[in-house]
Amino acid sequence: MKKTILAAAAALGLAATSAQAQPNWPTRPVTMIVPFAAGGPTDVVARIVGEHMSRTLGQQIVIENVAGAGGTTGITRAKQAAPDGYTIAMGHMGTHGAAPALYPNLRYDPAKDFEPIGVAAGTPILIVTKKDFPANSLKEFIDYVKANGAKLNEAHAGVGSVSHTTCTLLQSMIDAKFTRVAYRGTGPALNDLVAGQVDFGCDQIVNLVPQIQAGTIKAMAIATAERSASLPNVPTTKEAGLPDYQVSAWNAVFAPKGTPKEITAKLADALDKALSDENVRKRLHELGGVIPEGADRGPQGLQKLVETEVARWTPVLKAAGVTAQ
Ligand code: MLT
Repeated sequence: MKKTILAAAAALGLAATSAQAQPNWPTRPVTMIVPFAAGGPTDVVARIVGEHMSRTLGQQIVIENVAGAGGTTGITRAKQAAPDGYTIAMGHMGTHGAAPALYPNLRYDPAKDFEPIGVAAGTPILIVTKKDFPANSLKEFIDYVKANGAKLNEAHAGVGSVSHTTCTLLQSMIDAKFTRVAYRGTGPALNDLVAGQVDFGCDQIVNLVPQIQAGTIKAMAIATAERSASLPNVPTTKEAGLPDYQVSAWNAVFAPKGTPKEITAKLADALDKALSDENVRKRLHELGGVIPEGADRGPQGLQKLVETEVARWTPVLKAAGVTAQ
C-alpha cells in the first residue's frame, strides 16, 4: 500500500512539474514527431519549418518519424507525451481531419487533445502516375482506370492519410475500382511510383514537384481552382474535366493538451517567424506549398481549421463507405 501511495505521489509530482511554469523553456532539444516515414511531404515541411524554429528557440528541434496507421500511431504518441513542451507533432488534414471518420476507436480527439500551435503549409493535391502510364490527360486517366482498375495499384500512406483520403474521394467520384497499396508514407510510395512498381496516387504537391519537373512521374491534374506557379503546365481538375474534385491538404504543428501557455506561445511565435522568413518561404513556394497568412496562422486559426475539417471529411468518408477497421 505504501509503495502505491509513494508511486502516485511521484506521478503527481511529475505531472505538476510538466504543467508548472518553465520560464527558461526550452533548455534541451525539442522532439517533433512526424507520423510518417522520412522523405515524405509531412517530413519535408517539418524539416523546413523546424530548422528555422530551432534558431528562434535556441534549441534543436529533432524530427522523430513514427509511422503507422495512416499517421494516427505517431499522433497518439504525441497526445500521450508529457505536456512539458519537449514533444510536439506535425499533424495534417488526415490525422486531424479525416481520421475520426475512419478510426472508430481513434485514441485521440483532434479538436480536444492538443494545443494548436499553427498551420505550417497548405499542400494542394495532385493526381500522379508512373511515367509510362497509358494516359496523357485526366480524361484518358479516368477512362483507363475505369476500364482497367482490376489490374492497377494505387499507392497511399495508410487509411486516414492524406493520400488515402483524397484518392478515396477520387475513387467514389469517378466510380472506379482498383487495388490500394499502403506504405509508411508517400516518400517510400513515390520511390515505387518512380520505379514503376505502382501505377498512380493522390499526393501533396510538396512531395512531387522535383519528380514531375524531372519527368520521372506524370501529373494528370492539380485539384485546386488555380494552377500552381511551381507547376505551370499542370492543368487544374476544373480545366481537365473533373471540376468537383477540388481538394487540398495542410500540415500543422500541435502540442499535447495541457502544455503551458507560455510554452505554446513561444512555439507559435517561432513558427510564425519561420513562415515570415524569406528563405523558408522560398523553399516552401518552390515545392508548391501555400503559406498561411494573417488570421490563418497561429493557434486560433488552426483550432478552427481542425473543427471545420473534421466536420467536412466525416460525411464524405462515411458516404464512401471507408473505415480502417
Ligand atoms: C507523408 O508525409 O508521407 C504523407 O503526409 C502521407 C499522407 O498523408 O499521404
